[in-house]
Amino acid sequence: MNSSERDMGICARAPGGPEVLEWAALETGEPGRGEALIAQRAVGVNFIDTYFRSGLYPWPSSPLIPGSEAAGVVESVGADVAGLAPGDRVAYTMPSGAYRQRRVVPADRLVKIPDAVPFEIAASLMLKGLTAQFLVNSCFPVKAGHTVLVHAAAGGVGLILGQWLKMLGASAIGTVGSAEKAQIAAAHGYAHIVNYRSEDFAARVAEITAGKGCDVVYDSVGNDTWRGSLKCLKRRGMFVSFGQSSGMIAEFKLADLAAGGSLFASRPMLFDYIASRAELQSRAADLFARVAAGEVRAHVGQRFALRDARDAHLALAGRRTIGATVLTT
Ligand SMILES: NC(=O)c1ccc[n+]([C@@H]2O[C@H](COP(=O)([O-])OP(=O)(O)OC[C@H]3O[C@@H](n4cnc5c(N)ncnc54)[C@H](OP(=O)(O)O)[C@@H]3O)[C@@H](O)[C@H]2O)c1
Repeated sequence: MNSSERDMGICARAPGGPEVLEWAALETGEPGRGEALIAQRAVGVNFIDTYFRSGLYPWPSSPLIPGSEAAGVVESVGADVAGLAPGDRVAYTMPSGAYRQRRVVPADRLVKIPDAVPFEIAASLMLKGLTAQFLVNSCFPVKAGHTVLVHAAAGGVGLILGQWLKMLGASAIGTVGSAEKAQIAAAHGYAHIVNYRSEDFAARVAEITAGKGCDVVYDSVGNDTWRGSLKCLKRRGMFVSFGQSSGMIAEFKLADLAAGGSLFASRPMLFDYIASRAELQSRAADLFARVAAGEVRAHVGQRFALRDARDAHLALAGRRTIGATVLTT
């Protein structure tokens, strides 16, 4: 690889569909105080990348470089960086900026990855795995015996959630959009699977729970599912709306929580649960310990070359992906 190729990446000059993603030469620069330069080996693809690309989420700067998780090797560090050295294997999650071959990153956002964890696994766990970690431990602490509904159970976050919920002793119900996805979700911890494209999922959850409903619903689909999700909850249950793969929730009113039985609701973002270095490190340590113990496995269902990020976005938005999608540099 020559040096000009090493500084390639993906950018968008205006919001739009996958076609706005361009393969372009990018300035990398040198690491400054408190920063490290990373040679990225694998980059995770996440639904949040499509929210930035489309303009649903405001751009931090223009042009946009999408991408919210990656793993690689430290090439060099700037002044005042302790505990990191060239050659260290690291990963990070940040809202955008990861679709590139080399990147300068604040050192306090990096975590070292165990030698046994391949780059593509680390790159598909930093955002998706830490999301599952905070959702079940902190946003709503799931306990043994809880009944939990997860939408898009065969997705990147969904497959990790299923395994984590099983490990905690919860009974997990997962919704999926196809028979193939149903099989994969069932192999990742879900006790019950509902195809929400062909069945009324709220009616099926009522049957499965003998009318009792769920303690918590983790809903990342949003506009197409939120009404049904509220119907699936027990009295005083928790509605966790953590994404909007089908579009932003419209028309939700606080009074809907009263009508559903004094429900609770949260709209959490991972970055508020890893804002401090200490919290990032403790959640990442928990995640990688689970991975080392074989309790949580990342399922990489699709791989694309970084320059083909457009195709990855088409597949993700088209509901054609299973588990995690990784771009290789
Ligand atoms: N709040 C946070 O901090 C946070 C962090 C990470 C992720 N998230 C959210 O979690 C969700 C999952 O992210 P992910 O990257 O793992 O994606 P993903 O779940 O792998 O992909 C999205 C899935 O959503 C389902 N879906 C339902 N309706 C859809 C529609 N109209 N268009 C596209 N997909 C639709 C599809 O599964 P089926 O075919 O099975 O329906 C699709 O595969 C996203 O909403 C993301 O924004 C939030």
